[in-house]
Amino acid sequence: MASNELHETARALVADNKGILAADESSGTIKKRFDSIELESTEENRRAYRDMLFSTADLEEYVSGVILYDETLRQASADGTPFAKLLGDRGIIPGIKVDLGAKELSSAPGETVTEGLDGLRERLQEYKSLGARFAKWRAVISIGEGIPSAYCLEVNAHALARYAALCQEQGLVPIVEPEVLMDGGHDIGACYSATRRTLHKTFNELYHQRIDLEGMLLKPNMVISGKDAPTQASAQEVAEQTVRCFHETVPGAVPGIVFLSGGQSDEQASENLNAINSLGQQPWVLSFSYGRALQAPALQAWGGSADNVEAGQSFLALRARCNSAAVAGRYSADMEELARSS
Ligand code: 13P
Repeated sequence: MASNELHETARALVADNKGILAADESSGTIKKRFDSIELESTEENRRAYRDMLFSTADLEEYVSGVILYDETLRQASADGTPFAKLLGDRGIIPGIKVDLGAKELSSAPGETVTEGLDGLRERLQEYKSLGARFAKWRAVISIGEGIPSAYCLEVNAHALARYAALCQEQGLVPIVEPEVLMDGGHDIGACYSATRRTLHKTFNELYHQRIDLEGMLLKPNMVISGKDAPTQASAQEVAEQTVRCFHETVPGAVPGIVFLSGGQSDEQASENLNAINSLGQQPWVLSFSYGRALQAPALQAWGGSADNVEAGQSFLALRARCNSAAVAGRYSADMEELARSS
């Protein structure tokens, strides 16, 4: 693929105030989500759930792309249309999670390294033939006593760059996701420092491994207080620290930064994204690639029942609309009430 096609796809994923729906939960993760609604995680239930999400009316107004899991890319809507085609026909770009998960990092208690590089070139070729145009790989970084270690940051950055290089070789836009977790009682300053170190190391490796920065997207955490911190930073503080951290570490050639939600509540994720986009023009588009913050209320409303498909879809549409408004800096808490009562 010509590199300008990679550039076009990367730009299209962050055009027009749209963002990405991350619906790429692995079988283990979707089981946890289904446990919360007491639904068995069968292949048919997983298919029906994704069918509900992807068939939501007007989704393409707010969502540019959807990240799928291996099984989902091979599944189809109730009428037999493969999900990748259903999405593509609506103008939504299908993507695929390609890492095989975070595994314990040897000699580094409490830290992980993400696996999945062996055979990746061949897997990417197959995913492309199934309709995927972009990919995702997630590295997981924890904050704690003496961690993240330089060792952990280095091996994860190296793997992210190896993955990104293979994606670009195969004509898929890599979404590079080094996630610094919110877990813990640390303050926003600790998150700032860990995120800055992580991004610095990641872009250093991307440079060494010859990544075309215009043909990729970054998917980071926001710079935010730990979940159990006694004092939670305000949206304004999250916005200022997040943007300052990126100015120090993310080259302006990267077309877009699409945040993960990482355990923020759905409304908090919209409020913080809005505050970030209210700070004025930045070198990159700042959008979303949310999993839980887009899906949580839809999953609860659907509850595994065909009778509740429309209710689930209305919640996904609401979250997608709110987050798209946040990309434009036009989200307000009133949107939640107005949309619910309409
Ligand atoms: P969350 O928004 O739920 O963190 O999920 C995004 C994602 O794709 C994590 O890899």
